[in-house]
Amino acid sequence: MPEAVLQAERLTKQFGAHTAVSDVSFAVAPGELLSIIGPNGAGKTTLFNLLTKDLTPSAGRIVLEGQDVTALKPHRISRLGVGRSYQITSVFQNLTVAENVWVAAYRHRHGGRFDFLRRRRAYAQLDPVVGRILENAGLESYAGMRASELSYGHQRMLEIAITLATEPRLILLDEPTSGLSQEDTRQVGEMVRRLAEQHTVVMIEHKMSVVMSISHRLIVMNFGEVIAEGEPEDVARNPEVRKAYFGTAAGV
Ligand SMILES: Nc1ncnc2c1ncn2[C@@H]1O[C@H](COP(=O)(O)OP(=O)(O)OP(=O)(O)O)[C@@H](O)[C@H]1O
Ligand SMILES: [Mg+2]
Repeated sequence: MPEAVLQAERLTKQFGAHTAVSDVSFAVAPGELLSIIGPNGAGKTTLFNLLTKDLTPSAGRIVLEGQDVTALKPHRISRLGVGRSYQITSVFQNLTVAENVWVAAYRHRHGGRFDFLRRRRAYAQLDPVVGRILENAGLESYAGMRASELSYGHQRMLEIAITLATEPRLILLDEPTSGLSQEDTRQVGEMVRRLAEQHTVVMIEHKMSVVMSISHRLIVMNFGEVIAEGEPEDVARNPEVRKAYFGTAAGV
C-alpha cells in the first residue's frame, strides 16, 4: 500500500471538561476523496483545526507523508502542503478572479509577503501557474471578472482556487457547499470531484447528495468519536449511523 498522505493517530481535544475530539485515528491515501460527516457539534471542524495545528491536540499524533508534524506551527504545516480554505479572509472582492489567484500564488512563493503591488514584473512569471489553477478550478471563463461580481457558488470555487495556489498535497474543505443553492451546490460538488482526480482531499460535508455522489470513503463522527468508516453505500446502511445522523435507524 502506498504511504498515507496523512495519518491521524488517536487525536484528542479537550475543552475544559468537554472532549470535542476523542481518540480519532484515520489515514488518507494518495488521491483519495475522504468525507467526514456527522451531526452538528460532532467535532468535525475541531478535528480539522487539530490537523492544521490551529488548535493543539490534547493527545495523539499527526503524521504527514511519514513525518511526525504534531509539534509544528500552523504555517509550517501549510508549507508542508496542507491547504485549507479560510472563507472570507482570503478573497479580495475588488480584484478579479485571476488577480486573486495571482496574489495567493505570489504570496505562497514569497513567504506570505504582501509586497506584490511593487512587483508587477512578477506577473508574467506567474501567468502559466494562474492559468493552470483557473483551469483546474473550472474558472477560466471568469478570470477577468471581479470577485464581487461572482455568484455565491463561483465565490466558493474561487476560495478553493486560492487554496490551490499554495500547491497543496492535501486539501481540507470544511463544508464547501454550505449556504449554497441547489445549483451552486451541484457545481461546487462537481468541482471538488474534479479536483480529487489530481489531489488528495478531505472534505467535511453535510449535504448527502454531494457526499454520496463524490466521496471514495466516509468517516462518520458523533460526540467526538468515529462511529463508522467505509465506502459510502456501506456507511449509509449502517444502523448506528442512520440513528446518529438521520435520527432513525430505519429508511432515510
Ligand atoms: N474553541 C472552543 N472552545 C470550547 N468549545 C469548543 C471550541 N470549539 C468547538 N467547541 C465545542 O466542541 C464541539 C465540537 O465542535 P465542532 O465545531 O468541531 O463541531 P462540528 O462537527 O464541526 O459541527 P458543525 O457541523 O455544526 O460545524 C462542540 O460542542 C463545540 O461547542
Ligand atoms: Mg463544523
